[in-house]
Amino acid sequence: MNILVTGGTGYIGSHTLVELNQAGHDTVVVDNLSNSSRRSLDRVEELVGKRIPFYEVDIRDRQGLERVMTQHRFDACIHFAGLKAVGESVEKPWEYYENNIGGTLVLLDVMRRNGCKNLIFSSSATVYGDPAVIPITETCPKGHCTNPYGQTKSMLEEIMMDMQKADPEWNVVLLRYFNPIGAHPSGRIGENPNGIPNNLMPYVTQVAVGKRPELGVFGDDYDTPDGTGVRDYIHVVDLAKGHVAALKAIERRCGCAIYNLGTGQGYSVLQVVKTFERVNQVPIPYRIKPRRAGDIATCYSDPAKAERELGWKAQYGLEEMCRDAWNWQRNNPEGYGDR
Ligand code: NAD
Ligand code: WQD
Repeated sequence: MNILVTGGTGYIGSHTLVELNQAGHDTVVVDNLSNSSRRSLDRVEELVGKRIPFYEVDIRDRQGLERVMTQHRFDACIHFAGLKAVGESVEKPWEYYENNIGGTLVLLDVMRRNGCKNLIFSSSATVYGDPAVIPITETCPKGHCTNPYGQTKSMLEEIMMDMQKADPEWNVVLLRYFNPIGAHPSGRIGENPNGIPNNLMPYVTQVAVGKRPELGVFGDDYDTPDGTGVRDYIHVVDLAKGHVAALKAIERRCGCAIYNLGTGQGYSVLQVVKTFERVNQVPIPYRIKPRRAGDIATCYSDPAKAERELGWKAQYGLEEMCRDAWNWQRNNPEGYGDR
């Protein structure tokens, strides 16, 4: 297939480009580089041995998107582009709604006008809020999102489902990611956060490399085995392969389909820290801090539907996630070195 990848220079997008091209697909990337480096694409090209057309275009720029759409004929779009920092979204709700929802509305319109009605969308386990059942199946009701970022994911899911209902030519696959971590085993591409990392693993790797003195562990009084928060961490390469598998749903004209992409296994913050230390032989000093606003105790998936319907199942375990996250950070202490 020929696939438009929005947000393709970002963390998950770059790993997905590798898997798509290695599976024989062709890709074209659109990204405004607001949270990524152009250099990630050079690395992807080096890994797959193929040139990947790139357009520095904002998805809110209708003319820019039209130009890309008329130059290429796409069979499908995988839509990663968006802002993703939970805390920042509380400070700047308008910017999040305008970028994520406004941008996606422009993208959907340009797609349908150009006859491309196959879409895979990056949603998030955050739409389940504080989940009603654990492990979380796709039939679990959506919950209350405590922040505008999560609201944009939940609202965009509704918008896409409504559009698909009104026009059955659309095929929409909503992928609800759990907690992606790690990096490509080559160490050539990985997560490249701007400033102080919000998420656990990039913070851990920055402590490991000496950029930050210690990790703050947000709360040790949750109702979990060791009191720290439990999450379903998934290797970013497994997650990327989930997108290749999701194309099968498009091929069989799924209408609208929702899949959890997780491992089904929950680990606590301290289990992640201890595993990282053991696998990589690096100490991670940490200090228990108060709970972070909006956090929940436990979140992990039931990933059985994706295995049943897409033949996809995560292969990597926590040890490989820790190994590859460190391999990336150690070999690229300044990320792609351009910000
Ligand atoms: P990322 O920030 O690395 O990638 C997103 C990319 O989108 C960046 O390259 C950024 O420059 C680009 N972008 C943002 N706004 C744009 C716009 N208006 N026009 C064009 N490009 C734009 O983030 P990621 O971790 O790779 O996440 C990819 C997607 O997956 C996002 O939609 C995110 O919300 C979603 N997601 C991420 C996680 C996670 O933990 N990383 C979890 C669940 C869902
Ligand atoms: C994991 C655990 C923290 C940092 C977020 C978004 C979610 C999705 C993935 C995009 C929690 C603890 C963290 C630190 C810590 N993103 N922690 N010290 O909060 O599960 O999910 O990213 O869609 O929408 O909410 O991930 O990595 O921030 O936290 O103790 O410095 O690590 O409290 O228990 P989270 P996370």
